[in-house]
Amino acid sequence: MKISLKLICLIVLCLIVNRSFAQQQTIDQKVDALLGKMTLDEKIGQLNQYNGDWEATGPVTKDVGNKLDEIKQGRVGAVLNIMGTDHCRTFQDAAMKSRLKIPLLFGQDVIHGYSITFPIPLAEAASWDMEAIEKAERIAATEASASGINWTFAPMVDIARDPRWGRVMEGAGEDPYLGSQIAIARVKGFQGNGIGSPDAVMATAKHFAAYGAAIGGRDYNSVDMSLRTLWEIYLPPFKAAADAGVGTFMNSFNDLNGIPATGNSYLQRDVLKGAWKFKGFVVSDWGSIGEMINHGYAKDNYEAAQEAITAGSDMDMESRSYINNLAKLVADKKVPVTLIDDAVRRILRKKFELGLFDDPYKFINPDREKTALNRPENLEAARDMARKSMVLLKNDNNLLPLSKNLKTVALIGPLVKAEKELKGFWSLDVDQNKGIVSLMEGMKNHAPDTKFVYAEGCTITAESHNGFAEAVAAAKKANVVVMAMGEAPDMTGEAKSRSNIHLPGVQEELIRAVKATGKPVIVLLMAGRPMVFNWTADNVPSIVYAWWLGTQGGNAMADVLYGDYNPSGKLPITFPRSEGQIPIYYNHYNTGRPAKSDTDLFYVSAYNDLRNSPQYAFGHGLSYTTFEYQNLELGKFKPSVKGLKPIQVSFMIKNTGKRAGEEVVQLYIRDMVSQPVRPIKELKDFKKITLQPGEIRRVTFTIKRDELAFYNDKLERITQPGTFQIMIGSASDYIRLQKSFELTN
Ligand code: NOJ
Repeated sequence: MKISLKLICLIVLCLIVNRSFAQQQTIDQKVDALLGKMTLDEKIGQLNQYNGDWEATGPVTKDVGNKLDEIKQGRVGAVLNIMGTDHCRTFQDAAMKSRLKIPLLFGQDVIHGYSITFPIPLAEAASWDMEAIEKAERIAATEASASGINWTFAPMVDIARDPRWGRVMEGAGEDPYLGSQIAIARVKGFQGNGIGSPDAVMATAKHFAAYGAAIGGRDYNSVDMSLRTLWEIYLPPFKAAADAGVGTFMNSFNDLNGIPATGNSYLQRDVLKGAWKFKGFVVSDWGSIGEMINHGYAKDNYEAAQEAITAGSDMDMESRSYINNLAKLVADKKVPVTLIDDAVRRILRKKFELGLFDDPYKFINPDREKTALNRPENLEAARDMARKSMVLLKNDNNLLPLSKNLKTVALIGPLVKAEKELKGFWSLDVDQNKGIVSLMEGMKNHAPDTKFVYAEGCTITAESHNGFAEAVAAAKKANVVVMAMGEAPDMTGEAKSRSNIHLPGVQEELIRAVKATGKPVIVLLMAGRPMVFNWTADNVPSIVYAWWLGTQGGNAMADVLYGDYNPSGKLPITFPRSEGQIPIYYNHYNTGRPAKSDTDLFYVSAYNDLRNSPQYAFGHGLSYTTFEYQNLELGKFKPSVKGLKPIQVSFMIKNTGKRAGEEVVQLYIRDMVSQPVRPIKELKDFKKITLQPGEIRRVTFTIKRDELAFYNDKLERITQPGTFQIMIGSASDYIRLQKSFELTN
């Protein structure tokens, strides 16, 4: 019986594989047939992408003709920034008037939701909840694909160790393992059952590569790093996205060790299309082909186009270098037509896979658009994602959660009534910001019998203290004070780097003034990056990091403040005490002179005017309940590198508090002696566990061979014998259990 079941499964699997192989074959044949009919100009047209009629997300190239006419002439393969079925229809109609009727791709930055705005990606990363993240992208894809969009420029999978960088909000934080898991979840969510499903959008892994390591955290800046760091830290999420079947890659604005990513053959040809066998296409970032002139890498657009196509950039977003130069480059024998054919093939293949040749209007269905957006069950999912994204940084004496029977609560701060701000950067104005729930509204929804007194106190950035007296008076009337403070939403995002990441303006002074009333104070912080707020961290009993939580932000914040949801978020990025510590990250090397403590300054690696430890470490986040970790055990295994089989690591975890709660248990390893050296901790796995009060559960992780491996100085992936430490933590700086084992040769 068992055998026949296995056999049936095998046959079904073979049929599926065979079918998709056959489908791919027919797509390849169709692509070749179409390619055979195309003139060189039509081929080059497919490599050209223009900005549409929505807000431009970069500097638009001037002096161009009428876009619709160009589309009719077959000079455009894709457009971006066109939203809504009516707009998309106008553009697709034009494409259907071109000689070969090749449909357009409609690309859009659907970064954290489409009509319903979900928390910013960095916030979602704090949930460590892959199912919820996948679901969020599924909903975004369902909405976007009903509005004409078939391609999203997401996920951004750039690792970021520098919170000054404005785009830190758009990624999954600092860790390559967490970042890879999130990259997979996002690709799966966007692409659903595969591109070609009517409710899927083709995803883009961006920005290839190392964009997040811009020197000094200044956007668009150069990147200089060893190839080993590139492979260890920055490439894993890209590889994970490629393995998860992401349709496209976008290259990046930065140069990497002197070579702009857009003209970088090593990245795009050797690694991506070579070693990783990526079959999708690479779109340039906005204007990045032309920007190779500014980099000083190409003399003019003609040379820039030559460098980019040679290096494997398939589609030119907005720089017009390809459309204006490729034909001449071919005529001048500087670019072989085979290179152009390869790029066109990759793009056409995706258009076939999306089903656009069967029905160019597949995603342009106004009836679907009317019913797919803002569905109540999806708003509920956005609320759930939002509460999972919050991080309880501090909760002295269990000040939180609040009782719903409090007589008077003071709501103070510049973000109490914030609505559209909650959407954060990279959100879309699909529904004119209708239906966003502010913190004030969320609080009132939860505690209808409480009296809320409100004072703004100060604005986000102004230096005026004029509102302080009113805020202090409001605090004095209340049993508890909730303060909503933070950055403005456009202080993070593209081109939004900052050298000063302190809580802006006089906000921290306002917190001091309110705290001085002696009332219990809870501070909610909203921002797209880790901020610096040392006084608050040291003096305010309860702090919740609320990022930008999207449409349902106010309800979600109130869910957490009132304990309808027990917070479970953990920081996906280190919070520094000062900009002077940046870059700061948990998985650093030990150095030859590690400090023994934060006060150890005796000829050790430390700042004399600043502690070494961060304000809050990677992985940190509290709950309203407590968890006890016990009995770490390693399963039996052959301790030799050669015969190494997966190692079982298990332990018990108990909810020792009075509430049900979720804990993200984190598995770190350290390779104690190795050449080259290894970080003091590396996250290798995690699980989010739900436990009822008093419940105890065994948690098991499996460490596989590759998790003990690393790149040596020749970029070979090796495992070395020696001592490995296994650490189970509830944060990178709070290791609950540990054990070592030896690996022999
Ligand atoms: C530039 C950004 O770097 C990229 O992430 C985005 O997708 C494009 N502009 C299009 O808006």
